[in-house]
Amino acid sequence: MSPTTIESILQEERLFQPPDTFSRTAHIKSMEEYQRLYNQAQADPEQFWAQLAEQELHWFQKWDKVLDWQPPFAQWFVGGKLNISYNCLDRHLTTERRDKLALIWEGEPGDSRTFTYTQLHREVCQMANVFKHLGVHKGDRVGIYMPMIPEAAIAMLACTRIGATHTVVFGGFSAEALKDRLLDAEAKVVVTADGSWRKDAIVPLKEQVDQALAGNAVPSVQSVLVVKRSGQLTHMDPGRDHWWHELRADASADCPAEPMDSEDPAFILYTSGTTGKPKGVVHTTGGYNLYTHITTKWIFDLKTDTDVFKGADIFWCTADVGWITGHSYIVYGPLSNGATTLMYEGAPRASNPGCIWDVVEKYHVTIFYTAPTAIRMFMKMGEDLPKARDLSSLRLLGTVGEPINPAAWMWYYQVIGGERCPIVDTWWQTETGGAMLTPLPGAIPTKPGSATLPFPGIVADVVDLEGNPVGDNQGGYLVIKNPWPSMIRTVYRNPDRYRSTYWEHIPPKDGQYLYFTGDGARRDRDGYFWVMGRVDDVINVAGHRLGTMEVESALVSHQAVAEAAVVGKPSEIKGEEIVAFVTLEEGYLPSAELVKELKQHVVREIGAIARPGDIKFTEALPKTRSGKIMRRLLRSLAAGEEVTGDTSTLEDRGVLDKLRS
Ligand code: WT7
Repeated sequence: MSPTTIESILQEERLFQPPDTFSRTAHIKSMEEYQRLYNQAQADPEQFWAQLAEQELHWFQKWDKVLDWQPPFAQWFVGGKLNISYNCLDRHLTTERRDKLALIWEGEPGDSRTFTYTQLHREVCQMANVFKHLGVHKGDRVGIYMPMIPEAAIAMLACTRIGATHTVVFGGFSAEALKDRLLDAEAKVVVTADGSWRKDAIVPLKEQVDQALAGNAVPSVQSVLVVKRSGQLTHMDPGRDHWWHELRADASADCPAEPMDSEDPAFILYTSGTTGKPKGVVHTTGGYNLYTHITTKWIFDLKTDTDVFKGADIFWCTADVGWITGHSYIVYGPLSNGATTLMYEGAPRASNPGCIWDVVEKYHVTIFYTAPTAIRMFMKMGEDLPKARDLSSLRLLGTVGEPINPAAWMWYYQVIGGERCPIVDTWWQTETGGAMLTPLPGAIPTKPGSATLPFPGIVADVVDLEGNPVGDNQGGYLVIKNPWPSMIRTVYRNPDRYRSTYWEHIPPKDGQYLYFTGDGARRDRDGYFWVMGRVDDVINVAGHRLGTMEVESALVSHQAVAEAAVVGKPSEIKGEEIVAFVTLEEGYLPSAELVKELKQHVVREIGAIARPGDIKFTEALPKTRSGKIMRRLLRSLAAGEEVTGDTSTLEDRGVLDKLRS
């Protein structure tokens, strides 16, 4: 048993009970209540989800069938009609919430804007009408490549309002990466901004779009809608590019929400897989709306009253809207519930290292949801920064993106939460749409480092490659057993990839299909899940998912590179960092310049998140006789560990010795 496992098992003994004061007012108040819900859902999942769908969402037309499961393809609320944008906006306008703040936005330079539900609805309707004016119809795809400004959320809600499928591309991705995604999605319109504030500098986003579209590289794109954010001089292509503020001036604020089929696509979000090409994860309307709604409500114990004295929450999820976390827990989940969601453009930087805590203090944030990598960075910056601010408004903390080490958990609990805030460690993925393994904060006692138990309606297990459940505390593959409302429906235009990635690594067991998460995990004697990380060729850098093959194909697209193998190496702050082993083409020699050049090349091809921490030149890569790179060996080498385990399949043992030296 590895030392980390022993540490984790010891840690299990440390149970943190939900504080009574918290449970008293929580949506789910006790372990018994959680268990009752869980059992009820397990006994009759369709009834469980149908009842929630009826209670929690507005439907223009009720469904005929709750679930149609033709493995591995699921359809939820078949025949039902609804609209996510309507559920997030319109339905609140007939209640007291119409004048409640829907969105609070804080810009990096310290500017800020707020939108009540009425105001946000108006903006969304106007942008939806602008989309229509630009020829966007139901079913068309719209690319959104934006900074963290309100118009990013407005564009998403405007798309879902008219039934256009959005595909948000994280603003940190390069022009090249943007182009690939726009091509695959065949986007008709791209929404962007002139520039984005990033650590006291302006990133020219629109320039990246111009580069992605240069030479008519993405023929489907007819127009680019540009939001003025940074104000620098920006080239506008006549006929193709339009300023949002100009078109908005003539746009009507009346735009009825399109009744969508429950299974109509809501959005596509690209994520890294085990090949060189990212996959377009498709989420649909009804199931996604329901699952993000109910998880937001129960996991974050959201209070959506209009009155702060009754505990109206200010919910801050620090993710970027370019990731699923931003989709589900900045935009759709909180707004569907009628909550106040906070969006922040900035990040800790030399000129303002304590900005996160300034924002918590300024807006009396009550719920704060971030990633372990951020927590470790805050830890490193020291206690003085948070301690100099009043963080007493906080009542609940959350984490997502990677396993959290118990030390970071304790720091978060004590220094940020003042030992009064429960912590929800939520395990989920782009493909799952919403959180799957998680504490319910008023009910489930937590253990630092464990995402605890499955959400009601979710059946999770840890199995071996044949699908047999493994014993308590045995490592295995984390799988999900039954379809759930917000599950990935397919990989865009690639159902074969959907099937092979998620449903064929582990074959169906006695007719039971097992969704393969790609994560390793174990379950302890209390049934708590401990997720250990990816078991496939995917690495997790600062909570962001990257395919090793993606980075490898970026490297080999450089003329000097013959072959490349990329692995993750443990990193104190980022969790993992990228190490690339590279063999060079004839005529190229290793040099510090070339290292710099190759790192820069990867940034150009993918984006700064993929910049390798280290590049090692080698004469050959360790391969099996069938030509497969043995990444396991490279991982040990990168981490500076002894290479252990079987090396008998290695084609040339000499390679290993050379690599060591
Ligand atoms: C992968 C999914 C949707 C969350 C943002 C990342 C890892 C996520 C946890 C957690 C341990 C976690 C897994 C997962 N992960 N949350 N609480 N504990 N690991 O979404 O980019 O789709 O990545 O993030 O490895 O498979 P994503």
